[in-house]
Amino acid sequence: MAVSIEIALPGQLEADVLGIPVAEPVERLTGDGAHIVDEKLGGRLQRLAQTGDLRGGVGETLVLYTEGELRAPRVVLAGVGPRDRLDADALCTAAAASVQEAPAGTVMWLLDESLPLRVEEQAAALVEGSVLGAYDPGRWKTDRDERQRLRRVVLGHFDSDGLRAAADRAALVAERTNRARDLANAPPNELTPVLLAEHAERLASEHEHLTFAALGPAKIDELGMGAFSAVAQGSANEPRLIVLRYDPPRSSGSDAVLGLVGKAITFDSGGLSIKPAKSMEGMKGDMAGGGAVIEGTGAIAALGLAVRTIAVVAACENVIGPKAYKPGDILRAANGKSIEVINTDAEGRLVLADALWYARREGATHVLDVATLTGAMELALGDLYGGLFANDDDWGERVRGAAERSGDRAWPFPLHPRYRRYIDSAFADMKNASTLRQGSPALAAEFLHEFAGDGAWAHLDMSGPGFLERSRGDYMRVPGGTGWGVRLIAELAASLA
Ligand code: BES
Ligand code: MN
Ligand code: ZN
Repeated sequence: MAVSIEIALPGQLEADVLGIPVAEPVERLTGDGAHIVDEKLGGRLQRLAQTGDLRGGVGETLVLYTEGELRAPRVVLAGVGPRDRLDADALCTAAAASVQEAPAGTVMWLLDESLPLRVEEQAAALVEGSVLGAYDPGRWKTDRDERQRLRRVVLGHFDSDGLRAAADRAALVAERTNRARDLANAPPNELTPVLLAEHAERLASEHEHLTFAALGPAKIDELGMGAFSAVAQGSANEPRLIVLRYDPPRSSGSDAVLGLVGKAITFDSGGLSIKPAKSMEGMKGDMAGGGAVIEGTGAIAALGLAVRTIAVVAACENVIGPKAYKPGDILRAANGKSIEVINTDAEGRLVLADALWYARREGATHVLDVATLTGAMELALGDLYGGLFANDDDWGERVRGAAERSGDRAWPFPLHPRYRRYIDSAFADMKNASTLRQGSPALAAEFLHEFAGDGAWAHLDMSGPGFLERSRGDYMRVPGGTGWGVRLIAELAASLA
């Protein structure tokens, strides 16, 4: 449900919680708003700073209860770390920690002109952190207290067009990120490939310039997508190739067509090369890349960005059934290449192979795929960074820049033709996995490279940051889906528009 944004001078509006960013050293209280509040509270803020009760580390919070001195019953003092090193990430984290400590229907944030960050950036970061921090993964709990669900964020400042635009954009993208989290957190018995397609269809119906199509098993076979089809055939739940097309109301004048390709394995058991129970636990989240592509495309449409976009999401289950594909099977992908199956748990690259081909066929010039592809990528980068592979330096750098600015961070990894020999097959054009216990993210990327077609292509392996086992300690403070990729996609598309 949409969070509304308002801009008002401090004191003009009632809020359930008044948030005040506090930078170190905390003894030096800054910002006109904070001084007024301190005065109204009889110098309480200054005293707390002197006694050491008020701490300014990033994410540290102190909640005060007021008794009619302010038009807010609670004040949260939100640490943002050292003043001279302040950035958007710190403000975002502070806001998220605050709404978690002091949940509220309406939170008002005081902006501070004296901080070394433009007020537009402060606004965007505080809104983003509030929306992401208020996310509740417990949608399936029976008794949920709705009273303190975040409905409104108020920014305490003079109104201006720039401030409003920055805050609205941040709210929109953060809400789409939360929707992608909902998708990743949805249980696999509920979120089947067909349901994910219906979700995308509903999304498209909300936007005039977004159109939806979904291909079922017959059409998938007709197009010769033997790799995607093989993974899907073990399940009683039908696959869907979900296609969203965005034709902007006004064109940027460029011929670039952004192709977004997502892996959406709604559950990855490993198939016949079955995973051990522990490794299967988080595998409802193996559709997180596809979820990010769908919601990211929705964000592009909602922002009205001037870049033509085609999103292709391969959605199916990887489970065991009488028709399950087998190690030893040789598949024919839509681009004509043959693939020997070594391990049915290397299913992501198979479904992406055909989805990449389809995106190119539909005219994508600049392709980005997003996938929870290899466990080793998570081992390498942990929960913060995705791994980035690209066949084109400019495109890779553009994706990396968008990743860094958006907060969905990505770090470059190499593609190299000499990795290719590790997926050579004695029987087919290539095999889907190597027996070598080395370099699996790079081998997976080299495999995808075979299907990326002509033109710029980049691959993001988001196994680490896509789905959390625990709070990351920043603005992602609950386990489960993070919506990783939605902010990145919005930023990337904006850079092309
Ligand atoms: N979905 C997994 C990758 C994964 C693992 C994502 C852990 C998030 C957390 C993928 O389908 C997979 O099983 N990859 C295998 C490939 C191997 C068999 C070549 C892997 O990385 O172990
Ligand atoms: Mn797998
Ligand atoms: Zn998988």
